[in-house]
Amino acid sequence: MTVGTLGLSQIQQLENEHQPPLYAKREIALVRGEGAYLFDSDGRRYLDAMSNYGVAILGHADPEFATALSEQLRTLATGHQSFYSDVRADLLSEIAEIAPAGLTRHFLSNSGAEAIEAAIKFARVATGRPNLVAAKRGYHGRTLGALAATADQKYRAPFEPLVPATTHVSFSDVDSLATAVNDQTAAILLEPIQGEGGIWPASPDYLQSARDIAAAKGALLIADEIQTGFRTGAPWVIDTSGVVPDILVTAKALANGFPIGLTMFTEAISTAIPAGAHGTTFGASPLACRAAIVTLRALRERDLYARSAALGAELMDRLSGIGSPKVRQVRGRGMMIGVELKERVTPTLRALQERGVLVLPAGPTTFRLLPPLIWEQQQVDELIAVVESTLSA
Ligand SMILES: Cc1ncc(COP(=O)(O)O)c(C=O)c1O
Repeated sequence: MTVGTLGLSQIQQLENEHQPPLYAKREIALVRGEGAYLFDSDGRRYLDAMSNYGVAILGHADPEFATALSEQLRTLATGHQSFYSDVRADLLSEIAEIAPAGLTRHFLSNSGAEAIEAAIKFARVATGRPNLVAAKRGYHGRTLGALAATADQKYRAPFEPLVPATTHVSFSDVDSLATAVNDQTAAILLEPIQGEGGIWPASPDYLQSARDIAAAKGALLIADEIQTGFRTGAPWVIDTSGVVPDILVTAKALANGFPIGLTMFTEAISTAIPAGAHGTTFGASPLACRAAIVTLRALRERDLYARSAALGAELMDRLSGIGSPKVRQVRGRGMMIGVELKERVTPTLRALQERGVLVLPAGPTTFRLLPPLIWEQQQVDELIAVVESTLSA
């Protein structure tokens, strides 16, 4: 079978027949991307306001990215970390440029959940304590350790019991956090903006309190910037609160969609991790590292942080100004925006898709925009026009 020859019904039949029914499918098959747009198997074009759950930060089929990766494929694609690698060394020096002060050690893996697993393991070994405190509505991934920190019963219940033991406190409630953290707590794990849960930004005061509570009780503070990373006008959103966590985790956009995870932590934590205690076969391969290098340089050299922050602010303003009776609230920062409706969101997702715009849900009543940072004024205008007409229909 040649790639690209299957029609929609054949694609659907094969996927439905061979995959477990884990995902609520969106009815279309995406077969091609170009910059800010995606194309389905019938050749229909969509404005991509989701960048594949926040990963394709440079948009699709970026020529510089494609050339660099194909060159790396022809040079050396895979390489275990028991050997040194020129490309890995290059990436580590790029990461050092953007790492928060004091987070000098960097563990590379293959996904968000894996980066969280590393954070949990490192926090346990560094503190000698077993448990976590995380937030209600929080999302940290689906592997067993990360799942213990994820709050939603839909994901947790079928797989319980989960370790480590995790207490989930109300997000932004300082007193509950202070009560929950005790001498068995290895770490407080928080998203500075809750993504999957509905785009809920934490206030700088709350993050500072989390920092203080962790320090006072001998626990660590882990910031999960897997979704927020790179898309709020700076590499890390927590920087704007002036808070430095002990561990910062990112993934999604770091390599523009190439699978990668990054766990950054302090020298003190690094010293506590026994040699050989953790690792990964695929992590930090030359191919993944090259993908991340090209992405980080493009973000800087094309001025995408500042530009996307400005466009994101405009998007927030114009979405807030739509004045539809269906909209409860618009929340977010940079290119991470949630529009909470007063009704369930699925019909709106469908209607937007029918009108050629792809967005994501975030909780039952919110739709979420995670556009590629390469958007220009034209895409902002296009999105606003379609959202406006959809919400007034
Ligand atoms: C904040 C956050 N943490 C962790 C994850 C898990 O990442 P992955 O799906 O790459 O395992 C996600 C994914 O959506 C996320 O948004």
